[in-house]
Amino acid sequence: MQSTYATRQDSGSMTISSGHWYVVLSSRELKKRPVGKTRFSTPLVFWRDAHGDVVCLEDRCPHRGAALSQGCIKDGILACPYHGIRFTGDGRCVEVPVEDSWHIPDHFRARSLQVRESQEYVWLWRGPAMATDELPPPPVQPVATDATCFEECIQHWPTHYTRCVEGVIDHSHIGFVHKRTLGLVMRDPITRVEVHPIEGGFRSNLMKDGKIRHYIDLTYPNVWTQNLSVAYGMSTAFAPVDDKRTEVYCRLYHNKNRRGYRPLMALWNRFTQFMVFHEDMAILATQSPANVDDAQDDKLLPSDAAHVFYRKMRKQLQNELAVASGGGEPQQLSRSSGAV
Ligand code: FES
Ligand SMILES: [Fe+2]
Repeated sequence: MQSTYATRQDSGSMTISSGHWYVVLSSRELKKRPVGKTRFSTPLVFWRDAHGDVVCLEDRCPHRGAALSQGCIKDGILACPYHGIRFTGDGRCVEVPVEDSWHIPDHFRARSLQVRESQEYVWLWRGPAMATDELPPPPVQPVATDATCFEECIQHWPTHYTRCVEGVIDHSHIGFVHKRTLGLVMRDPITRVEVHPIEGGFRSNLMKDGKIRHYIDLTYPNVWTQNLSVAYGMSTAFAPVDDKRTEVYCRLYHNKNRRGYRPLMALWNRFTQFMVFHEDMAILATQSPANVDDAQDDKLLPSDAAHVFYRKMRKQLQNELAVASGGGEPQQLSRSSGAV
């Protein structure tokens, strides 16, 4: 369901921080049919090949542009719904049913993208082109390895994913935006924040009387984690759709895989995430510009220490990528086979 919140009109194209794995899908979404999703303003199609590995192509048939996601999978090979042309996960065309003697040229292929599955997420590589075996592994969320199971719900947030990330690393909004929910127990508006780097991102501590009252982690670029205890944590991944939309995977991790318990946890997860995050969405949708990279005019406060850290980190990584790319723009989804 798409959100009905109004968004301000901003200009600007989808920019990225590259050289990272982005969560773009939950493994639970992959069933028997191909899955079409827009990510980074590009329609993509995901499915499992004959080995069970997740693969991804641009959701556009190279023949005459039909959406491959409307096709079907047989023996791990995707067939276009229009004329039945079949493609493997690396984009190769292996059959053109309407031609009996035509030699399929090498260039007759769909655009493929490098994806990997880890922690029941599908991750998409955005960065310099590299051979598959040279790519680093996706970052690991400790909460995902500590817990034995999780409940998940999906939401659609009406803004750029960078504003979503900044929304969930923000300690100081609780008493205002969430005054009817979280703010009932967190009433003190005075906010002292300490930030320090951790593996793959940073941790933001909310301080009270010199002690850590609460902390949240951001695994760069798009996974937020809140550890409530060893066996119980929340994690939210913000999959970039386009400049104005983000698909959000809200997970509640736990260790109680008992019958009867999980449906209750799933219900509780769905209800609480709906209550709290819809309060966030109403504000985030009004922020202008939508993309944090365009928000140089924002005047940040000491209590925005996590936001300062996040923006510096983005800038630094974007500069590094520009150098790696020879001074050019961060690479967009490429037409090469298998790399972006
Ligand atoms: S458009 Fe895909 S087979 Fe013709
Ligand atoms: Fe919030």
